[in-house]
Amino acid sequence: MNKQDQLKHQVAKAAIDYVVPKLKPSDVLGIGTGSTANFFIDMLDGHQSKFKAAIASSEASAERLKAIGVEVLDMNDVQSLAFYVDGADESNKELHLIKGGGAALTREKIVASIAKQFVCIADESKWVDCLGAFPLPVEVIPMAREAVARQLEELGGDPRWREGVITDNGCDILDVHGLKISNAIKLESEINQIVGVVSNGLFARRKADVMLLGREDGVQIIYPGLGG
Ligand code: A5P
Repeated sequence: MNKQDQLKHQVAKAAIDYVVPKLKPSDVLGIGTGSTANFFIDMLDGHQSKFKAAIASSEASAERLKAIGVEVLDMNDVQSLAFYVDGADESNKELHLIKGGGAALTREKIVASIAKQFVCIADESKWVDCLGAFPLPVEVIPMAREAVARQLEELGGDPRWREGVITDNGCDILDVHGLKISNAIKLESEINQIVGVVSNGLFARRKADVMLLGREDGVQIIYPGLGG
């Protein structure tokens, strides 16, 4: 395992220690997508009896959960989640995030929206002063892709089509390069207003509630605004 994977593994373990003791047997857990979330799913094996079921933010995570015997529910049948546990591509000290490197941003946003607590798990390479070095993923209705791209250029970005990738919702992804995001809440809302956009990878209006950040010297627990 390389160093980054070791840190991801370490934060996934920290998330197990953070979340599992607080679970009630009636709780439903929200589970994200990506390699860090995968470590977390694998470590849930053995804890299945401590919660009722899960909602997954992607087909891939749903399959992984089912493989260890966790029941995966339809979100329409669930009112709220005790926790949503997921990784990120970038986080600033407000715990505003960029997500969607794995193209699951819209479902991640939907699942996070009904979570009482969003626990973000990430290795230290994701911690930034200013969001935007990681290209911002924007999910678009396929017929609107070029029209949306032109609007994103007006906002100062350099959008590039992630060719060959179709989301779980049957849509396209534009990765917007070259942004230096000083007001994530404002930009998230502006991009959402472009006709043809399904959602964008800024998680600022619904940010993480706590970050478990894997560093060389251990896992740091960070709350919004308290920085690392
Ligand atoms: C998936 O769409 C993303 O939001 C992931 O949460 C993000 O890309 C982090 O992925 P890793 O855990 O693989 O770094």
